[in-house]
Amino acid sequence: MDTPQIALVTGANRGLGLELCKQLAARGTRVLLTARSEEKGQKAARALAEQGLPVSFLWLDVTSEQSLVQGVEYISREFGRLDILVNNAAVSLDLKRPGLEIGMDIVRTTIETNVYGPLRLTQLAVPLMRKNHYGRIVNVSSGLGSFSRITAGKLAYRLSKASLNTMTKVFADELQDTNILVNAVTPGWVRTHLGGIRAERSVEEGVDSILWLATLPDDGPRGKFFKDRNEFPW
Ligand SMILES: NC(=O)c1ccc[n+]([C@@H]2O[C@H](COP(=O)([O-])OP(=O)(O)OC[C@H]3O[C@@H](n4cnc5c(N)ncnc54)[C@H](OP(=O)(O)O)[C@@H]3O)[C@@H](O)[C@H]2O)c1
Repeated sequence: MDTPQIALVTGANRGLGLELCKQLAARGTRVLLTARSEEKGQKAARALAEQGLPVSFLWLDVTSEQSLVQGVEYISREFGRLDILVNNAAVSLDLKRPGLEIGMDIVRTTIETNVYGPLRLTQLAVPLMRKNHYGRIVNVSSGLGSFSRITAGKLAYRLSKASLNTMTKVFADELQDTNILVNAVTPGWVRTHLGGIRAERSVEEGVDSILWLATLPDDGPRGKFFKDRNEFPW
């Protein structure tokens, strides 16, 4: 029997991350459900494991260098490989405040979580992927980071997702001679804590394109931004 693939999903104790863990595990992937809260993450992972799914919890606060280093070291030691990395964790803290008045504490926390977190984790994860000549990296972005569509408001969140998109292109290009495919995706407006109850999509609908990118064949796209499995403007 083939060794199962190993996937790491950040911010997976709820919302899109949690649904993605469930769907990846249902395909036979060994999933590391990660979260910044040990309690919430353990609970979410246990609920999936009790359904017979191959899911376990790993503590990962994407703003903590120590947690990222320890987490990747653990995966290297325990499994010797990492096949799928989904940079899903994010915060959206702007509320309705105009960009001209937003506090720098909000900007900093947003950038640290939504940009520096995935940047650093990707740097740490890629050597493990290179070892096995395989990798799928999915950066969960947002239409609000699409530079061609930027309008007023949500400055910190927009900055963070536009930066994540830039990072996607840079890393995809740096890995162009490898079987490590890096892409960005917007799930659309989804009913989660972040999206709110008025959002138009279910988590299942939102996860579709993320799962598709996480499981691309070797000749799949790289360095692109997607919505509903179609290319979306940067
Ligand atoms: N929902 C939408 O309409 C929508 C639209 C476009 C893009 N997105 C993107 O989709 C992704 C998932 O969001 P969601 O809608 O599922 O939102 P969500 O339910 O609020 O989930 C966000 C997750 O990120 C985690 N997180 C926040 N800071 C973290 C940190 N420092 N370290 C580790 N985890 C952290 C949260 O953990 P806690 O529970 O501890 O806070 C939570 O598990 C995000 O990247 C978001 O920007 C969502």
